[in-house]
Amino acid sequence: MSDEKENKKTARIFSGASPEKVAQDLSPLIHFKEQGMPLSELRALLEKSLFPHLMNYASPQFQSMFNTFPEPGAKFGAVLEIQYNQGVTNWQVSPGGAMLEELCARALCHMFGFPPDSDATFMYCGTSANLQALFLALHRHAEKQGFDLCQKGITGFENPEKLFLLCSEDAHFSLKHAVRTLGLGEKSLVPVKVDQNRRMDVNHFQQKIDQTGRKNIFGVVATAGTTSTGSVDPLSLIAEISINENIWVHIDGAYGLAYSLVPEWEPLFQGKELADSVSWDPHKQFGVPIPNSVLFVKNEQDFERMTLYSDYFNPSQDTHPNPGLKSAPSTRPFSALPLITSILHQGLKKIRHRLRSPLEAVKKAAVQIQSEPELELCLKPDTGILCFQVVPKNIKPDKINDLQEMIYNEIMSKGENALSKTKIGDKTALRLVAVSPAVQSRHLLETAYLCRSIA
Ligand SMILES: Cc1ncc(COP(=O)(O)O)c(C=O)c1O
Repeated sequence: MSDEKENKKTARIFSGASPEKVAQDLSPLIHFKEQGMPLSELRALLEKSLFPHLMNYASPQFQSMFNTFPEPGAKFGAVLEIQYNQGVTNWQVSPGGAMLEELCARALCHMFGFPPDSDATFMYCGTSANLQALFLALHRHAEKQGFDLCQKGITGFENPEKLFLLCSEDAHFSLKHAVRTLGLGEKSLVPVKVDQNRRMDVNHFQQKIDQTGRKNIFGVVATAGTTSTGSVDPLSLIAEISINENIWVHIDGAYGLAYSLVPEWEPLFQGKELADSVSWDPHKQFGVPIPNSVLFVKNEQDFERMTLYSDYFNPSQDTHPNPGLKSAPSTRPFSALPLITSILHQGLKKIRHRLRSPLEAVKKAAVQIQSEPELELCLKPDTGILCFQVVPKNIKPDKINDLQEMIYNEIMSKGENALSKTKIGDKTALRLVAVSPAVQSRHLLETAYLCRSIA
């Protein structure tokens, strides 16, 4: 029996094998030979060597990260995307593809309630969307100082060492990548403290503006759904303060923005429409195949800071639709197609239901955990992430963190459940993520009880 069949027969959602064993199983796949093999044989080889070590995102026991199995409408579009393999940079290479990306960008702005002049561009991932947003922020900062960042780079600033970006201490590490790539270094990141719900503390934010000097701050990032705990920063307050200070405000909604479509959760996201830019990953809970990411800007002209023309491609006099003028990828995938087919197939009502389901599961499980002996909820969840500790009676306080690590390792080595862990202040917390609608509160509680029984 193949390992994949064995996984199905048992409760395994992945093999749980060690890196050595996985490498050993995969080694036949990188023995490139002179003679090719029929696809049927190739399939059999993959089934044997690779598939058992892949994670089954469709299982409700997968509660680890933001990955999910493809939604059928999205999969349908993705198959067509591959079949036609369109590069959708401009009209020359794909009239239908280029136009559809442009139309979809506007439709998404409308769907999220962004202002009438807003626009969007498809990106490879949230990391690159955040990078581009911060480039735009830095560019506008340069404009305020009377020069063009595209031409002069950061040496155009009088004091390039005095360029700062404010974000919560729980902001995603892609911001570090961004400031590294922009040549500013990690020292340019000014972390703002979070409150007990891990949301950015607005008083501390104000203090940091004063201490850093408002003229030195080129951007502020608020996170709408942090990666660690799913907390949503107070978007309205942060946006209003930043706008008053004339500082570019970016919302990193890579994970959380989708939940603003659920009416009961929408109030948490109020103020998103004030931001200069917002990033979002449909390849997370929307179930659209990876890669699929979107960057929104409040004013369509903001993308002009990205524009590059060339004589043979994207000439300046061309008036046809040209998504390639709004972001860096020159050969760009037809990411709009699977997103569109997914939305059309499900309809907005079903999408809201799909998004609401894991949020409700987490909320319900959190209430239950609060009443359970030896389980301690770390914070009230804003979105789809549940963080808790197992604290058995009589355990020494200095052993609590080690115990969570031990529980995590034990569960992951069995391959029957996948969870994750995070740091909340100095606490190590077990972290359960519900992204797929398959994950219900009972599945989350089963994992929490399993953690407790291991302890
Ligand atoms: C809040 C947040 N921002 C950015 C990212 C990076 O997105 P990607 O993994 O698509 O690069 C993530 C990924 O989980 C995230 O949660």
